[in-house]
Amino acid sequence: MRSHLLNDTTAEHYRRSVTEGVERVAARLAATDRPFTGVTVDALASRVDGIDLDRPLGDTAAVLDELEEVYLRDAVYFHHPRYLAHLNCPVVIPAVLGEAVLSAVNSSLDTWDQSAGGTLIERRLIDWTCARVGLGPAADGVFTSGGSQSNLQALLLAREEAKSDSLARLRVFASDAGHFSVQKSAKLLGLGPEAVVTVPVDHDKRMQTVALAHELERCRKDGLVPMAVVATAGTTDFGSIDPLPEIAELCAQFGAWMHVDAAYGCGLLASVKYRDRIDGIERADSVTVDYHKSFFQPVSSSAVLVRDAGTLRHATYHAEYLNPRRTVRERIPNQVDKSLQTTRRFDALKLWMTLRTMGADGIGRLFDEVCDLAVDGWRLLAADPRFDVVVQPSLSTLVFRYVPADVTDPAEIDRANLHARKALFASGDAVVAGTKVGARHYLKFTLLNPETTTDDIAAVLDLIAGHAEQYLGESLDRAC
Ligand SMILES: Cc1ncc(COP(=O)(O)O)c(C=O)c1O
Repeated sequence: MRSHLLNDTTAEHYRRSVTEGVERVAARLAATDRPFTGVTVDALASRVDGIDLDRPLGDTAAVLDELEEVYLRDAVYFHHPRYLAHLNCPVVIPAVLGEAVLSAVNSSLDTWDQSAGGTLIERRLIDWTCARVGLGPAADGVFTSGGSQSNLQALLLAREEAKSDSLARLRVFASDAGHFSVQKSAKLLGLGPEAVVTVPVDHDKRMQTVALAHELERCRKDGLVPMAVVATAGTTDFGSIDPLPEIAELCAQFGAWMHVDAAYGCGLLASVKYRDRIDGIERADSVTVDYHKSFFQPVSSSAVLVRDAGTLRHATYHAEYLNPRRTVRERIPNQVDKSLQTTRRFDALKLWMTLRTMGADGIGRLFDEVCDLAVDGWRLLAADPRFDVVVQPSLSTLVFRYVPADVTDPAEIDRANLHARKALFASGDAVVAGTKVGARHYLKFTLLNPETTTDDIAAVLDLIAGHAEQYLGESLDRAC
C-alpha cells in the first residue's frame, strides 16, 4: 500500500497515474458533443450504489474505467458552448495546471510553516486585486472557499465594527435581487429574523437608492443600527449592478458598512472595455470577488477584501499549537489570522498561473466577449415575438420566457416554460437555468463561455420554443 503514497520513491507512479487520468479527461472533453447526456437520477444512482467500496479495484486503469461509468460520461460539462445555465465558467488551462500542482504539493495556507511561498503568492494576489478595486494602501483580504463564505466573513467584520449593544438591533440592507447568502449569513451571525431589510429594485433590477435612503432613515428613527448595506455588483439572475456611488454616499451618511458583493461582476476588474461599470466599488469597506465565476478559474477560488486590514482582526484567534501571539511580533505571515478556515487549499496558485501565463488583459478580454455576446443575445430575444426578455444585460445573463401568441393564461405559460427547461435538460442538447420574475416562471442564460456563439443562442431558443410548443399541444389534447 505504501506504493500509493506520493513521495520521492513514487514519482514515476505519480507521473503515470496522473497522465492516465489526464488522458481520459482529455479524450472525454474532445468527444463531448452535448453539455449533458440527460441521464436520470435513478439510472446513475443505481450505478453508484452498485459499487462495493470495500472491494478496491487496485489498478488505476480499472478505476478510471469505472469512473467513466459513474461520473465522466454523464457529468455536466461547463466547457460546452451550450451549457448556458448557472454561474459556472469554462476553466483556463493554466489554472487547471495550477490545480494539479497545488494538490500534489498540498500546501495548507493557514500558517507560514505549512506553505512558505504559497503564503506570499496569495498575499501578492490579494494586494493585486485590492489595487484593481482601488481600496487604498491599508487594504487586505484573504482567499475563501466561495462567495457565500466571503459574504459571511464581510458581514462578520461589519457586525463587529457596528456600535451596538444588542444583535437584535442590527440591520443589513440588500436589494431583493441580492444573493441568499446575505440572509444565511445574518442567521449564522446571530442577527434577528428581521435583520435583513430587503430594498426594492428598479426596472433594471438595480437597488432603488431612494428606497434605500428611506429604509435607512426609518432604521434610525426606530432606534435601530444600520450595520451594513450589501450592494451587488452583478446580481445572480440579471447581472445588474447596483448604483455603487450613490450607495457609498448613503453608507457614509448613515454610518453603515458598505459591502459590495462582486462575486459575479468582479470579472470587470480585468475588463479592457467595461471596467467603468463598477465605478464606486473603490469606496467599499469590503468586497467579495469570485474568481471561479468570472476569471475562468476552477472551483474553488474566491476572496474577501477589506479597505482596512485592521478589521480582519475580528477573525483572529491564537493557538499555541498553530499561530501563537509571538508570531505576530516576529512578523511571521500566518494567513489563518485573517481567515474563517484553518486548513485551507492553495487556491490562489490557479490565479497566479493564469496571470503569469495569460495576463489580466487575457482574462478581461474573455469576460468582455461574454458581455458582448449577451448584448447580441438580447437583440435576438428582443426581436423574436416568441419571447419576452426582462432587462438589457449589464454583464452576461439573459432572463426571458417563451410567450406563445395564442395562450393567455399566465399559469399555462409558466408550465410550458418549466417543461421546456426540463425537457431540454433531459435531452442533454443544452442546459439552461430558471428563475421567477414576480410570480412568473422565466428561463435564464448565464453566458460565461466565449466559445458560445449567437448561432448557439438562436439554436437553443428554437429548441426551447419547440419543447414549449409540444407541451402546449399535448396540453390542448388532454383538455379535449
Ligand atoms: C451575487 C452572488 N453572490 C454570492 C454568491 C455565492 O457564491 P458561491 O456559490 O461561490 O458561494 C453567488 C453565487 O451564485 C452570487 O451570484
